[in-house]
Amino acid sequence: MGTDDASTPTAMGSSASDDAAGSPASSGAADPSMSSGGTILGQAMDVPVGGGMVFPAAKVVVTQASAGQYKAFSAVCTHKGCTVSSVSGGLIKCPCHGSAFKIADGSVAEGPASSPLPSVPVKVDNGKLVIGG
Ligand code: FES
Repeated sequence: MGTDDASTPTAMGSSASDDAAGSPASSGAADPSMSSGGTILGQAMDVPVGGGMVFPAAKVVVTQASAGQYKAFSAVCTHKGCTVSSVSGGLIKCPCHGSAFKIADGSVAEGPASSPLPSVPVKVDNGKLVIGG
């Protein structure tokens, strides 16, 4: 025992691919409860007014720019495809290169992304956020 010299971190720095994304794992707990043709994301009341919430499993971000104005957008950043990670200051933020999108319409507030986040139809059903219904 004791001859485990197999640590060979093959880290040749010659890959020119900008693939900084590559983090599909968000701790598993996806529970896509289906309800009348839609997917329940969570409680509408959990989305703060003037802010939003990212649902990484569904790759959707839901915002509430003003009371009752729920909107949903793809959480996949239009720059290189990272999943946006947070919503603050009225902006949906991507952790990879700092792009920010407006909660009201998904438009770009800060680059490097140049395209808005595509919107996703969302509705509130019995206090729950439902997409795809
Ligand atoms: S992937 Fe580059 S800013 Fe989002």
